[in-house]
Amino acid sequence: MSVKHFLHLGALTKDELDALIILSQRIKHVRHQKSVFSEALVGKTLAMIFERPSTRTRISFEVGMQELGGRVLSLTTQELQLGRGEPLEDTAQVLSRYVDIILLRTSEHTRVEALAASSQVPVINGLSDIHHPTQVVADLLTILEHKGRLRDLKIAYVGDAHNNVTHDWLFAAALLGLDFHIAAPEMYGPSPAILQKARTFAASSGARLALTDDPRAALSNADVVITDVWTSMGREEERDIRLKHLKPYQVNEEAMQYAQEDAIFMHCLPAHRGEEVTKAVMDGPQSVVFDEAENRLHAHKAILLWLLSGQNIEAFVQDASVKDKALI
Ligand code: CP
Ligand code: NVA
Repeated sequence: MSVKHFLHLGALTKDELDALIILSQRIKHVRHQKSVFSEALVGKTLAMIFERPSTRTRISFEVGMQELGGRVLSLTTQELQLGRGEPLEDTAQVLSRYVDIILLRTSEHTRVEALAASSQVPVINGLSDIHHPTQVVADLLTILEHKGRLRDLKIAYVGDAHNNVTHDWLFAAALLGLDFHIAAPEMYGPSPAILQKARTFAASSGARLALTDDPRAALSNADVVITDVWTSMGREEERDIRLKHLKPYQVNEEAMQYAQEDAIFMHCLPAHRGEEVTKAVMDGPQSVVFDEAENRLHAHKAILLWLLSGQNIEAFVQDASVKDKALI
């Protein structure tokens, strides 16, 4: 059987993504019942390699793996021979002999693909320049919790859309049949290849994927407002020009007026108050950003359990007696 990796959400089926959200929710509900899942991954080891900084991804995977009874090695490229030029492919072969699962946070997406291609154990993409799949599973759980459903909601993403978070949002929305609107300047629109692939999923799921350069069109009557930084990691030299072009896409109190009164505001964090979002919105009553950050922990535990179970996720969810599928 081929190894199941977790590199971007476009590689999942609709049923797998649905089941992953349900499992994340179930795990969250039983977090403090120590006997449930607490020994699920005893004897398993997760190795994480960070080529870029991380607070949430690193700590939530580390705590999550430990709460499931497993062990974690959290490494940076610099402390490995990888930092002195040892090929990723050789690193993957070696780590596969020692550990049960590997996470990589890196720059070019091709690096995580190269690691996965040579790994005999599952590889998780902990963020690359074009994908951030673990984030979006937590985002979906957050919306489900706050709105009670994912479908029949208008979800608006405003800002830099040539972005790892937006790309996996496109895949998730397309797979699950959601109503997803992007507002971005043309020069910061999503990758055409990813958009095209998402549109093919949307054709079977009935998802609505809308792209505009008018933030008001996307925000109008939105139930969920999402943004991300204007200058992602690795693009720091473009910061000044990005600030100029993206200014009309700031999520401020005026922008939130276009959305539904009970709209929630989401951001994967870290946020830059005064750039993509104002302090009033980020720290205001509609913001659910810290629930979203917490949900990384629960979503990551679900991802680890699934990949390490060696099972089909739907079978795994049944085994875990998850009964509240109707919530989605
Ligand atoms: N949202 C997110 O991935 O945060 P970190 O960069 O802190 O991991
Ligand atoms: N788009 C952001 C996400 C950070 C978690 C970045 O890549 O820097």
